[in-house]
Amino acid sequence: MQKLKDFIVSPIGGKVIMALSGAMILLFLVGHALGNLLVFSGQESLNTYAYWLQNNPLLWVFRGSMLLLLILHVVLALRMYLQNRKARPVTYALNKDLQLTYSAKTMIFSGVIIFAFIMFHIAHLTLGWVSTTSLDIDASSRMIDVYSNVVVGFKQPAIAIFYVMSLLIIGLHLHHSIKSLFQTLGFHHENFHQVIDYLAPAMIIILTVGFISIPLAALFGYLPVAVMQ
Ligand code: HEM
Repeated sequence: MQKLKDFIVSPIGGKVIMALSGAMILLFLVGHALGNLLVFSGQESLNTYAYWLQNNPLLWVFRGSMLLLLILHVVLALRMYLQNRKARPVTYALNKDLQLTYSAKTMIFSGVIIFAFIMFHIAHLTLGWVSTTSLDIDASSRMIDVYSNVVVGFKQPAIAIFYVMSLLIIGLHLHHSIKSLFQTLGFHHENFHQVIDYLAPAMIIILTVGFISIPLAALFGYLPVAVMQ
């Protein structure tokens, strides 16, 4: 038990847990994107999928685990950031740490923006606190019209632009973290080279484009809003 405690508080333990929680969050995002892309198959498809999710007996277990993973990821990231700053209190006169990419240095800032995005996003589509969202259950289908909530929300330019900007920042954050994720988890072997260098970043680009296509399609009128049948 003490060994586990020591591992968790050690810098390497923190990195491994950050990588594992990041990997789980990434898996959630892949599933979330695939689910939301059902918006292109029409109102009934997305609403039926959302109905299945909302009525799943494991919903609260899933929500609790995701929240825990997110908190763990954020707390460990902040700890790592503060430790790094403490270890190097004087900033370089010249920017010599060339091995750090621009996105690596801005991970903590993109992380804070992503956290704020998730808070807004839950208020918008899960809690229905934004004026374009209604969580009323349709009397005939007995479903919440998630499709209309998504499409009507994204027809507002301010909301669509906010989502597109946030999704781009999320894409950059993931693009940087995907390589370090594999490296931290020990996939250094040259057999994994292609996966780490090409396949993983390509997957992040596809994921980001998939997400962004939704607000853009709604904003430019490619997703019709229909009255629920
Ligand atoms: C265009 C992109 C996105 C769309 C259309 C979308 C859509 C939705 C919808 C409709 C819900 C409510 C589900 C429900 O209560 O039935 C939801 C919940 C959620 N979304 Fe997204 N989402 C998008 C991007 C993201 C991103 C990038 C993240 C994370 C960084 C994210 C994280 C979440 C979380 C944590 C929830 C709460 C889950 C729950 O209610 O159980 N979403 N999203």
